[in-house]
Amino acid sequence: MTFNPYFSELQQYPFEKLRQLTADVTPNPQLRHIPLSLGEPKHPPPEFVIDALSNREALAQQLASYPATKGSDHLREAIAAWVQNRFDVALDPGAEILPVNGTREALFSIAQALLSGAPGSQVLVPNPFYQIYEGAALLGGAVPAFVNNDAQHGYQQDFTGIPDEVWQATELVYICSPGNPTGHIMPLQQQQELIELSHRHNFYIAADECYSELYFDEANPPPSLLNASAAMGNPQHERCLIFHSLSKRSNLPGLRSGFVAGDAQLLSSYLQYRTYHGCALPPHHQQASALAWSDEQHVVTNRALYADKFAAVSAILAPHYTLHQPDGGFYHWLPVGMEDQEFCRLLLGEQNVTVMPGSFLARPTSQGNPGAQHVRVAWVANMEDCIEAAERLAAFAKTPR
Ligand SMILES: Cc1ncc(COP(=O)(O)O)c(C=O)c1O
Repeated sequence: MTFNPYFSELQQYPFEKLRQLTADVTPNPQLRHIPLSLGEPKHPPPEFVIDALSNREALAQQLASYPATKGSDHLREAIAAWVQNRFDVALDPGAEILPVNGTREALFSIAQALLSGAPGSQVLVPNPFYQIYEGAALLGGAVPAFVNNDAQHGYQQDFTGIPDEVWQATELVYICSPGNPTGHIMPLQQQQELIELSHRHNFYIAADECYSELYFDEANPPPSLLNASAAMGNPQHERCLIFHSLSKRSNLPGLRSGFVAGDAQLLSSYLQYRTYHGCALPPHHQQASALAWSDEQHVVTNRALYADKFAAVSAILAPHYTLHQPDGGFYHWLPVGMEDQEFCRLLLGEQNVTVMPGSFLARPTSQGNPGAQHVRVAWVANMEDCIEAAERLAAFAKTPR
């Protein structure tokens, strides 16, 4: 039997590793389980989206036609208006925007469309990171090269020490801002430096901005890579692509809806790739998505819910942990002062709370594993459960061992 040979290089997904790690742990039966390992938004989706998807008459028409891979003009115009409002960047909805089925599939498929497959080609990936970047690189025939965003660097990626020969072999760089799991926002200046490097060394930048609407400083929303490219006189956003999603912004992970925007030349090839791939967004999802991108009130409410939860859980955790407060996203990237997998097993056994070991979200490098001795805590549950889980994490830290 033949099989794509790159397949064997893929790692198990972190949730599968976690399942195996905890398979023989008996959770404390006195306490109900609180899962904080998965970054699945739990706040309610907007009512107006549910109403739109429940319109029988519209649905009958929408289900009866094949959607265009490029998406409807209406959706691309709604996205362009959102980008203009949010980032003050004017995009051509006909050439610079493509709707996608959530950022996950797009972050993966862009690599298949852009990578040359040449032996030795590299894809730079943050470390710790969202595992799709690594799988996309491997299945695209490239080698992932990790750029640590560890505690020593303030959880920021450091591109300065990368030798020229690595840049020469690099075809694609993934960045994630606000980062999963660190919550760090990449400063505009650093994004500009990366764009300069991309022109010098001939690579593309895929900026995962799916957490861009979940931030804590209302006066300083995270900038987009397209802000950086516009500010440095690259108005066509050459080599730059941004990836956005309704999953976190609008609590619609089940709608599978997002978009890619930026360099029109890259998007034109990517559209051709997608036509073959056959991944057009269903018409009713497109219509519901246009509505969601056109409303900001529910996003403001959503952000406020996270701000309240972070304030509450941080007050409980601060006396017991070294808290690194995220700039954005909904995770605490928590240094735990012990082996992280052991921490997760003990926490589940004693407190019936599941969190993700940091080492499952990172890869070992010559400077060590930047996920070691960290866990990722996703504050996605309701306020009551988050407070209860924070109290259990505090009790765990107080237990002598
Ligand atoms: C960093 C990051 N990028 C992308 C995604 C994918 O999100 P979606 O496909 O729902 O847009 C996630 C989901 O958890 C994520 O954490």
